[in-house]
Amino acid sequence: MPKNVLKHAPQSVLESQDDEQQAFAQQLLVKKLFVAQFQSAVELVCHAPGRVNLIGDHTDYNDGFVLPAAINFGTTIAASRREDKIVKVYAHDCDQQINEFSLDDISFDQQMMWSNYVRGTLQALMKKYPEIKGANLVVTGNVPQGAGLSSSASFEIAILKAFTQLYHLDLNGINAALIGQQAENDFVGCNCGIMDQLISAMGQQGHAMLLDCKDLSFEEAAIPDDLTLFIVNSNVKRGLVDSEYNLRRQQCEQVANHFGKSALREVTMAQLNTAKEQLEPVLFKRARHVISENERALNTLKALNSNDMAAISLAMKESHISLRDDFEVTTKEIDGLVDIIGSVLGIDGGVRMTGGGFGGCVVALVPNHLVAKVTGVINSKYQQAFGLSPSIYHCSASQGAFR
Ligand code: GLA
Repeated sequence: MPKNVLKHAPQSVLESQDDEQQAFAQQLLVKKLFVAQFQSAVELVCHAPGRVNLIGDHTDYNDGFVLPAAINFGTTIAASRREDKIVKVYAHDCDQQINEFSLDDISFDQQMMWSNYVRGTLQALMKKYPEIKGANLVVTGNVPQGAGLSSSASFEIAILKAFTQLYHLDLNGINAALIGQQAENDFVGCNCGIMDQLISAMGQQGHAMLLDCKDLSFEEAAIPDDLTLFIVNSNVKRGLVDSEYNLRRQQCEQVANHFGKSALREVTMAQLNTAKEQLEPVLFKRARHVISENERALNTLKALNSNDMAAISLAMKESHISLRDDFEVTTKEIDGLVDIIGSVLGIDGGVRMTGGGFGGCVVALVPNHLVAKVTGVINSKYQQAFGLSPSIYHCSASQGAFR
């Protein structure tokens, strides 16, 4: 995956005020690299964003509700068509070397692991569009890698956007998301849900998206201008993420099976409570998280639409507690960050872990007038308590690649 180019930045707070400038700089960079690598002209440049999830974690693969936003960090690709079936990719942040393969014979690459996102995505794309030919590609990204902000989904969606434009495919954002997810599930080996790819493709600038993962319908809610989308990377090195993630998914499916349902979305809290004695305690807790988290995602959409900060604050707080105690996917550093930020915000803002968990980031909705105070308290307390230096991102909700 594209590495976090931002981690080399000297300051600890990375502002997003100069979004356009940042995007322009990325475009210039990929174009320059493309000419240097391929000694030919760039045909097009495209971009797909990473995401942050405001609420609704570990619900997407249970046919549930999520409320993410696309962010102003993402993957940028310069591309041109080829006459043959060869794909050559240069990922600026990963290897100083071109990865090459043929669309006629796509296999897993054990050496350049990042290239499997391209390989898997194109293998899945070819099921729908077997006629596509090859391409020369240069990729760069600024989504912090392994931080739970969907650097891989933004990579997959950027690849799909590039091929859609190069070969004038009639691929829409929803189908692009399904293809990206298929690449992860069938080729890369992570059993993820649809949230990350879908928001990267279909996000709306300035808005969060309430996505119903059962039928992929969605509704958008504006993020008020007086709130900052505040993300803090704990910089905890994540371990066992895929295996623990896949285990959580299995546990949820076990409970759904117990009730003879296709997914936990179809099970109510009342039904779960009546079966408490028949279920292993750990399975009961996993299901309680999912069922209650769906409710909180729906409540948060309502609260965003009615500007009810106290309700948003409560939902985010309860979500974090549920992910910590029932779903058991937080770490002490993430819990610490949530406490530190929550102590400043009170009910004037919301904070919780975000994404798959086991380290990574917390997300906060911070009133603009409290941004400096929250930043200050994180910088003074987090490193002292956990010996790790945090990275703070003041983000904005961005447009998806297929909007
Ligand atoms: C990862 C997965 C998503 C989702 C989240 C948890 O980001 O890729 O599909 O399951 O974890 O909400």
